[in-house]
Amino acid sequence: MIRWGIMGTGYGATQFALGLQHLPQARIWAVGSRQEETAYRFAKHFGAQFYYSSYEKLMRDPTVDIIYIATPNALHKAHSLLCLEAGKAVLCEKPFALNAQQAQEVVTFARRQRLFCMEAMWMRFIPAIQHAVHLIKTGTIGQPYLMIANLGMRLAFNERGRHFNPYLGGGSLLDLGIYPISLAHQLWGPPQTVSGYMDMGTTQVDEQSHLLLHYPNQLTAQLSCSYLTHLPNEALIMGSCGMLRIQAPLYRPSRLSISHFTDTPAPTVSLEEDWKAGLKKVEWIKRMYEHHFSPWWHKPHTETIPYLGNGYHYEAQAVIDSLQKGELENSIMPLDETVQTLETLDKLRAQAQFKYPSEEN
Ligand SMILES: NC(=O)c1ccc[n+]([C@@H]2O[C@H](COP(=O)([O-])OP(=O)(O)OC[C@H]3O[C@@H](n4cnc5c(N)ncnc54)[C@H](OP(=O)(O)O)[C@@H]3O)[C@@H](O)[C@H]2O)c1
Repeated sequence: MIRWGIMGTGYGATQFALGLQHLPQARIWAVGSRQEETAYRFAKHFGAQFYYSSYEKLMRDPTVDIIYIATPNALHKAHSLLCLEAGKAVLCEKPFALNAQQAQEVVTFARRQRLFCMEAMWMRFIPAIQHAVHLIKTGTIGQPYLMIANLGMRLAFNERGRHFNPYLGGGSLLDLGIYPISLAHQLWGPPQTVSGYMDMGTTQVDEQSHLLLHYPNQLTAQLSCSYLTHLPNEALIMGSCGMLRIQAPLYRPSRLSISHFTDTPAPTVSLEEDWKAGLKKVEWIKRMYEHHFSPWWHKPHTETIPYLGNGYHYEAQAVIDSLQKGELENSIMPLDETVQTLETLDKLRAQAQFKYPSEEN
C-alpha cells in the first residue's frame, strides 16, 4: 500500500485524487494546504486520514510515502527540494520547474538523496499515447519527417489566477506547450535547433507560442500552444509511408487514425527532359495523386484505445510500480528527459527574451 500525500488542493490536485481512487494499492493518505479549512474539506471529500494547515507539516508526516506536488509552476522547485530534504519521494506537476537549471538542481538533489522523483507528465502514461509512440518507433509510418501538434484553449483573462500571472510561472508555453514538446522529446530526444515566436500578453506571460524543432534526417516538429484560441489539440505525424493522427484531446486521447501510402516517391519532371516524356510523367503524377499518393484520399484506419476513469491513475500506477521495484526514476518519464524538455522551452524563451520575475538578476 502506497500512502500518498497531496500538496495543494486546486484543480490539478483534485483531478489526481480522483484518479488515485481507481487504484486499490494506493491511499490518499494526507493532504497539505495553506489553510486548514481547505485541507480539511479536501481530506474529508477524498477520505484522507490526515490533513495539515501547511505544506511543511505534510512533509514531516512520517507515514507519508510520496508527495504529489500540485502548486503553481513557480513553486515547484522549492517544494520539490523541501520534500526531498524531508526524505519524501516526489511526483511533481508539469512543468517540473520554471527552467532547466532549476530542474537539474532538483534532479541532482533527488539522486543524491536516493529518492524517487518524477515529473507528472500524465499524458505519457495514457494507453493511446503509449501505443502511438510504439507505432512510430516501430516504423508504422516509415521514416518520420513532420509532426504538427498543438494544444490551445481560449481562456477567460484573469489577472489573479495562475495562468496569466508571471509570479506564479504563468503562460501557455509552460502550461500547454509542454505537452506536445514533451511528446516530441519522447519520440526523438532533444532537437538540433529550436526556433519560434512567443506572443506576450499584457501581464508579461506568453498567451500563444509557436515552435519549430529541427532534428537530423530532415525531421521537423511544428508545435503551437494558445490561451487565445481553441486549437485542434491533436498531433499529426507524417512519415515516408504514412500518417498517424493522435486525435484530440492530445493530453488524454483515446483514438488514433493511421493512413498509409506507398513508400515509392512520385517521379519529378526535369526541364531538360524531352517534353513528350515530361508530359507523360505529368499525366502519371496527376493520376497517382488522384488515386494513390495522397494519404488524405485513403480511408484512414481508426483504432480506439480507451482510458479508464479520468486517466490520471496511469501515471500514479507507474510511480507505484517504480517504488515497489525500488527504482529511483521511471523509464517512461526519465529525469534527464524532463531537464532536456525544459532546455527546449528555455531556448525559445531566450530568443523571445522572456524571463520570469524570479529569473531576473
Ligand atoms: N496534469 C494535469 O492535467 C494538470 C491539470 C491542471 C494543472 N496542472 C498543474 O498543476 C499545478 C497547479 O495547477 P492548478 O490548475 O491545480 O492550479 P490551481 O487550481 O490554482 O491550484 C493551485 C494550488 O496551489 C496552491 N498554492 C500554493 N501557493 C499558491 C499561490 N501563491 N497562489 C495560488 N495557489 C497556490 C493552492 O493550494 P492550497 O490553497 O491548498 O494551498 C492552490 O489551490 C500547475 O503546475 C499545473 O501546471 C496539471
